[in-house]
Amino acid sequence: MASNEPLDTLRESNSTQVNNGPRRPRILLAASGSVAAIKFGNLCNCFSDWADVRAVATQAALHFIDRTSLPKDLILYTDEHEWSTWSKIGDTVLHIELRRWADIMVIAPLSANTLGKIAGGLCDNLLTSIIRAWDYEKPIFVAPAMNTFMWTNPFTERHLMTVDELGITLIPPISKRLACGDYGTGAMAEPSLIFSTVRLFLESQPNAGNNNNNNHNNNSKNYSS
Ligand SMILES: Cc1cc2nc3c(=O)[nH]c(=O)nc-3n(C[C@H](O)[C@H](O)[C@H](O)COP(=O)(O)O)c2cc1C
Repeated sequence: MASNEPLDTLRESNSTQVNNGPRRPRILLAASGSVAAIKFGNLCNCFSDWADVRAVATQAALHFIDRTSLPKDLILYTDEHEWSTWSKIGDTVLHIELRRWADIMVIAPLSANTLGKIAGGLCDNLLTSIIRAWDYEKPIFVAPAMNTFMWTNPFTERHLMTVDELGITLIPPISKRLACGDYGTGAMAEPSLIFSTVRLFLESQPNAGNNNNNNHNNNSKNYSS
């Protein structure tokens, strides 16, 4: 990446101290390497009219994401940004800035691999580093997507129990004919359902959107900057 522009705009919004009243929620959308990432553009578009959206994708997810389907002004952060925006001690670190910026994180699709890494506390890329640094006072939603054989594998239940203990909210997969041709459970919930689940959650929170707060480490109920 030639410039630090994606990090500069992030740093600017994180350091905003002026109280302009309620602001839009900041939603960090993340995609991991499931074929369902072909719907990531659709998901980002669902959220964009309502929230300030930033996006993160794993290297595997990039195989499936059609960048032309993303909202024009959306910044899609990748592992490349994580490393190219840092050069020396004192520079800000992207996964920390994103963790600070976001009010809510939504991982959709969540691959079996990233689910396992989150459950084990591993953090070898931008997405999992954000999760490893996450403030669990702020909500995270995950929408798994995988083949039925992966979904019914005993590891899935173990890993889901662990992420449930962390307070991460599951948006369960649905049953349908999967990309591989098999019929069964494992397809990602529709982007519109993911959007309405997150929005309903947020709007059902007491004081959502009407709390004045200058602290840039806002939790889910305070959307002022
Ligand atoms: C064509 C193709 C489709 C895949 N679909 C899925 C999927 O739907 N769900 C899943 O968990 N893994 C799927 N995988 C495997 C993941 O891409 C692989 O485990 C990868 O390491 C995930 O990396 P990530 O979790 O860092 O994104 C697929 C792989 C390929 C080649």
